[in-house]
Amino acid sequence: MPARDMLRNALLLQIEAGADEAIAEAPVDRFAQRPPSPAPAAPAPAAAARPAPPAAARPAPTPVRVTRPAAPAALVTAETALGAARAAALAAPTLADLRAAVEAFEGCQLKETATHTVFADGAEGAPAMFVGEAPGADEDRIGKPFVGVSGQLLDRMIATIGLSRSLNAYITNILFWRPPGNREPSSEEIALCLPFVMRHIELARPKVLVFLGGPSAKTLLGRAEGITRLRGRWQDFRTQGMLERGEPPIAAMAMFHPAYLLRTPGAKREAWRDLMAIRARLAEAGALG
Ligand code: URA
Repeated sequence: MPARDMLRNALLLQIEAGADEAIAEAPVDRFAQRPPSPAPAAPAPAAAARPAPPAAARPAPTPVRVTRPAAPAALVTAETALGAARAAALAAPTLADLRAAVEAFEGCQLKETATHTVFADGAEGAPAMFVGEAPGADEDRIGKPFVGVSGQLLDRMIATIGLSRSLNAYITNILFWRPPGNREPSSEEIALCLPFVMRHIELARPKVLVFLGGPSAKTLLGRAEGITRLRGRWQDFRTQGMLERGEPPIAAMAMFHPAYLLRTPGAKREAWRDLMAIRARLAEAGALG
């Protein structure tokens, strides 16, 4: 096989494995980064052979201060970033302020490899808010959530119950930046975005909140079960802030993610049932024209 084709195939293999992002300006030679092998140990000084100085000449023992062991630097950085995320989210009085706060936030490393911050799309003040997982390649390129194939299916699904981004649906994700190569986000990355997502829901204040897929449902409901168990049931959703202010809960429902429905057409029956329940709830709230 010509060398050019071999190189092309090797590249395709990497892309299929999800390595489709250059995350630094120049390649890194990890072999050259190996730590140097330790130098041979120097012989121990023959302290024992030396005579001990007279007691009066010995320095006074240094007082020992007992302190807590320092937290590892990475932990401190993560805690600081989380504190900054919480403070910035709480300080945002409007959706526009929150968008600006998310765009200015530098604490989540996903931002380093993303092209755009993907905040939200749709009608502010909409009665229905949909929360997916993370931007993919199309969303990262365009800067809006759910604009790829699964987004097109989402648009068709919500249209069947009288919803559209231009009128009465508002769409976001639990992550604002694309994980490189669409890898699974770490729990730390999710935790760093969470204060912004919670504030996002408080400020959008929809009548009905829909979690698209397991990661969104599990994160926002704080539950461990999978989407098959969580979907199709109404839950009361309240952020800590809503609880403290004594605000009523938002009706929330989890459903299958459109990307899953594309891979598993047989699950569309359950998705249809969930959409009907959402439509009924919105109609009950007088939110459908
Ligand atoms: N999948 C998601 O969960 N969110 C998007 O924005 C796109 C695809």
